[in-house]
Amino acid sequence: MSNYKYIADEEILRQRNFIQSVRALTEKRQAQLGHPLSAYTKTFGCQQNENDTERINGMLEEMGFVFTDSPEAADFILFNTCAVRDHAEQKVYGTVGSLSSLKRNRPDVIIALCGCMVQQSAVSEEIRRKYRHVDLLFGPHALYRFPENFFKILSGECDRVFDDPASDGNIAEGLPLRRSDKTRAWVSIMSGCNNFCSYCIVPHVRGRERSRAPRQVLKEVESLIRQGYKEITLLGQNVNSYCNDLDIDYDFSDLLRDIDQIEGDYTLRFMTSHPKDVSEKLIDTIADCPHVSRHLHLPFQSGSNRILNLMNRKYSREDYLRLISLAKERIENVVFTSDVIVGFPTETEEDFQETLSLIRQVAFDGLFTFIYSPRNGTPAADMEGQISDEIKGDRYRRLSALQSELSAQANQKLVGQVVEVLVTGQNEKDPSLCDGRTKNNKLVHFQGNLTTGSKANVRIDRALNWGMYGTLCDTENKNY
Ligand code: SAH
Ligand code: SF4
Ligand code: F3S
Repeated sequence: MSNYKYIADEEILRQRNFIQSVRALTEKRQAQLGHPLSAYTKTFGCQQNENDTERINGMLEEMGFVFTDSPEAADFILFNTCAVRDHAEQKVYGTVGSLSSLKRNRPDVIIALCGCMVQQSAVSEEIRRKYRHVDLLFGPHALYRFPENFFKILSGECDRVFDDPASDGNIAEGLPLRRSDKTRAWVSIMSGCNNFCSYCIVPHVRGRERSRAPRQVLKEVESLIRQGYKEITLLGQNVNSYCNDLDIDYDFSDLLRDIDQIEGDYTLRFMTSHPKDVSEKLIDTIADCPHVSRHLHLPFQSGSNRILNLMNRKYSREDYLRLISLAKERIENVVFTSDVIVGFPTETEEDFQETLSLIRQVAFDGLFTFIYSPRNGTPAADMEGQISDEIKGDRYRRLSALQSELSAQANQKLVGQVVEVLVTGQNEKDPSLCDGRTKNNKLVHFQGNLTTGSKANVRIDRALNWGMYGTLCDTENKNY
């Protein structure tokens, strides 16, 4: 197998040494202060970003940091940013802007920005010029160099470090990771995207697809199962093209099968799948493998062929519906969720009606609805026929109302049934309730006080559009 996409072991070792050098500095500071240094890290964006923050947290932990929920109390503050929509970026600018007074009062605080948003050169330039209180900035490709860059600042070698190389990053194995949950774990199996959907910034900031070696993924998943993790979610922008960039005869279905062979009490999930790359082999694999969740998150983005074409999605409405029928036929009790965009340039009321009709036809269990947001550097941002905010808002509301109705109907079907749920914790608003997820990832609340990570049988009493309420019972007669 070619390994040109992996960072050399010597480089990883060099970064590990920087972790130790930072640790020596933090220990010195800790001795002066009489308490350990603390870090506040916050993630914007998708699960891949969450997983990247877990990597940074792993390095910080080895550097001797403890973690805090309050930026005011922290010695190190990091925001892992997202660029997918303007709203996500504005939130970051707002949050970072509000830290300038904190930095004035406590000049020793180190403020860092990383992630997709700062990988755009215009953003990085703006931060450099207008947000002087940001000390460290690094793009997703430079994440593994965090120890070295952090050391340069802590040791006083540099005032500010901006590390956002334009070239694609490579896969870094063997650096630490601090998981944020003891029951559910994210495992990135690849990074980047080759699809260049005309509205999307992700390929521009995350680079081309790079797959982790199957043996590395298997090793990580095996260790999570041994540690008792109950839910493992494999992550990639398009998991169906896993290993297409490697010179090996192995694909995503092979990976699911290999993982499924590992014994243990766990559910395997994955996201996201691009409809153009879902194969019959994948559908049959989901149907055959008992650990694999019978759930497909399959973004369709629009129900109109004209818009799909402008979006460069490379499938038609008919192709999509054929896939859904095949999955329904072969996978018992399969559940679908999806992403959809309203207000793409030139979208007419008729195009929008086709989106609504596709939603009715498939009857998704859940849908993430987005208002089209023009992204600099993407073809759609320069298209004629941008839609007004008023029309976008109106379509968004109509679509959301339809989906609420359909989600409630789908959940209604479970009323009276006993389902097995994985307990994910006590409810934040009402601590007398436990939160759980069914095998198909539906949210269930029920009275009780059970350990996170345990399984419970719950009879569904009441269904709403976002989830269900139920009662704990001990019968074995359950339905997933
Ligand atoms: N790789 C995944 C999605 C990543 S981004 C996939 O292709 O399925 C998550 C979702 O954000 C996308 O599915 C899309 O619905 C939405 N999205 C991406 N770019 C957007 C934009 N410019 N405006 C609005 N929504 C967008
Ligand atoms: Fe963006 Fe399309 Fe790639 Fe998904 S598949 S990350 S929507 S370019
Ligand atoms: Fe956002 Fe980057 Fe994920 S742009 S959605 S954090 S890949």
